[in-house]
Amino acid sequence: MTNSSSNASTQPTGDMFALSGKAAVVTGGSRGIGAMIARGLVQAGCRVYITARKAEACNARAAELAAFGECISVPLDLAVPGSADKLVAAVSERESQLHILVNNAGATWGAPLTEYPLEAFDKVLNINVKALFEVTVRCLPLLRAAASPQDPARVINIGSIDGLRVPAMESYAYSTSKAGVHMLTRHLASALAAESITVNAIAPGPFDSKMMAFALDDPQTRAAVAARVPLGRIGEPDDMAGTAIFLASRAGRYLTGAVIPVDGGLSTIHG
Ligand SMILES: NC(=O)c1ccc[n+]([C@@H]2O[C@H](COP(=O)([O-])OP(=O)(O)OC[C@H]3O[C@@H](n4cnc5c(N)ncnc54)[C@H](OP(=O)(O)O)[C@@H]3O)[C@@H](O)[C@H]2O)c1
Repeated sequence: MTNSSSNASTQPTGDMFALSGKAAVVTGGSRGIGAMIARGLVQAGCRVYITARKAEACNARAAELAAFGECISVPLDLAVPGSADKLVAAVSERESQLHILVNNAGATWGAPLTEYPLEAFDKVLNINVKALFEVTVRCLPLLRAAASPQDPARVINIGSIDGLRVPAMESYAYSTSKAGVHMLTRHLASALAAESITVNAIAPGPFDSKMMAFALDDPQTRAAVAARVPLGRIGEPDDMAGTAIFLASRAGRYLTGAVIPVDGGLSTIHG
């Protein structure tokens, strides 16, 4: 049996991951996982806008990535109401469409249960969930302008394996927020599919970053963390960039509402 509509959309697989000329925003792109994704998207030919609170670090990262293509720094604090509008205004100075939005900026807070401060929930949920929602909604006009049934606009949220299974760390607000990111991903996917906007989440395992420095900078703890990962190592920049490129490209256009663990199998182990 033949299917002319699927044949019509078949292109050479060499173009499957092409992203050249697309516009992308990566929140928290100044370091860590955001910088890994920003680098991958710039190297794939996207114009990438990165945000962070610390302007100097954000500008420095954009200048570094500009060696591979186009990267523009938009320093702002997304936890402050109205910042999402400022981000959209900055992007709109050069773009009439936004093809890829990566909601990566996030924070964590660890403390023993009985000492766990309630303000941790305010801080962590504010940036990890509320700001993600606000940025996505404010970017909708630009995303809609880029969206088509054959090539949807893409929203990629960074969740965590800590939102999939109970973490060893006492980070109650963080694990709760990341479970929230995963559900919000599915809810937004349901709301936006009819407009050809896909919404997926990446749930990373351990990757080198400032957030994980407390564990990964110490050689002994690092070895212990790596030993728990079924694939036997800490995540590397290409592991994160590759998944983001997949979700942003033609290869990933039929996924929406998915939460993809990129964790070396950590979320599959017992106990
Ligand atoms: N590393 C891991 O192993 C791991 C595992 C699972 C999930 N994740 C998730 O991956 C994402 C990135 O984490 P990371 O490990 O790369 O952490 P990171 O090194 O601490 O980077 C966080 C990024 O977000 C920015 N940011 C934080 N608060 C912000 C705010 N209010 N407004 C704007 N930007 C803000 C930071 O820049 P400024 O400080 O200058 O604002 C930085 O660019 C987070 O959502 C995290 O939960 C990480």
